[in-house]
Amino acid sequence: MNIAIIGGSGGIGRTFVEVLAGRPEVSAIHATYNRTPPPFQHPAVTWQPLDITNESAIRNWGRELGEIDWLINAVGLLHDLEQGPEKSIRRLDPAFFMQNMNINALPTLLLAKHLHRNLKHDRTAIFATISAKVGSIEDNRLGGWYSYRASKAALNMGLKTLAIEWQRTLPNVVVAALHPGTTDTPLSKPFQKHVPKGQLFTPTRSVTDMLDVLDKLTPEDSGKFWAFDGELLPW
Ligand SMILES: NC(=O)c1ccc[n+]([C@@H]2O[C@H](COP(=O)([O-])OP(=O)(O)OC[C@H]3O[C@@H](n4cnc5c(N)ncnc54)[C@H](OP(=O)(O)O)[C@@H]3O)[C@@H](O)[C@H]2O)c1
Repeated sequence: MNIAIIGGSGGIGRTFVEVLAGRPEVSAIHATYNRTPPPFQHPAVTWQPLDITNESAIRNWGRELGEIDWLINAVGLLHDLEQGPEKSIRRLDPAFFMQNMNINALPTLLLAKHLHRNLKHDRTAIFATISAKVGSIEDNRLGGWYSYRASKAALNMGLKTLAIEWQRTLPNVVVAALHPGTTDTPLSKPFQKHVPKGQLFTPTRSVTDMLDVLDKLTPEDSGKFWAFDGELLPW
């Protein structure tokens, strides 16, 4: 299998790279990072810098990539050094809102636009993005986090729409949105104190669980939103 991991420098993305590199059926992992290449080296793994907000960089990377069985986009933004998720509409900042859209929603569509030829067409292939349960409109009970929620809801709509198009044009490709559970990474670090005991997962736990979901997917499953434990989430 040839696998592309976008955001391989993140807590979850890097764990996908490390766990998949240990599988005997995986011959190549094309992993990308944004700022700094992770120290993990393995004969199957090649690291490439990729700014996921840069469309021509995505197009050029796709031209060099070759055929892939799986693509997993693990890029994401919840906070940066200056700003984080809004508790109230009074805190909404247009630039931060657009930054969330640019990192959490748009890249998956650009990857689909420029890498669809790379996905293997003759057997089941997977195009998956790590979304978040807080992007579910139906599941939203607490409110807050306007920019992050809206960007993940936009991502989810993009994935659902893509699944409908590809059921016609790329019927062997499974499009999937994944919720990893609350996972101990730099993204969740400032918000971990309110997580109930036992519900903060190590990256290895959440990646192992998500791989159990991915391993079972068939083309009939395309266009769904999966939690780490295999539960189907409402859009
Ligand atoms: N951790 C959780 O509890 C949790 C819960 C639900 C959903 N998620 C989702 O899971 C995914 C992975 O999150 P994580 O927890 O692993 O977060 P993380 O450790 O902060 O990783 C985020 C990744 O996004 C990359 N990135 C940010 N901006 C980028 C850009 N412009 N171009 C390319 N890459 C960029 C980062 O690269 P650099 O570090 O090199 O900048 C990093 O690899 C995200 O989509 C997140 O929303 C996480």
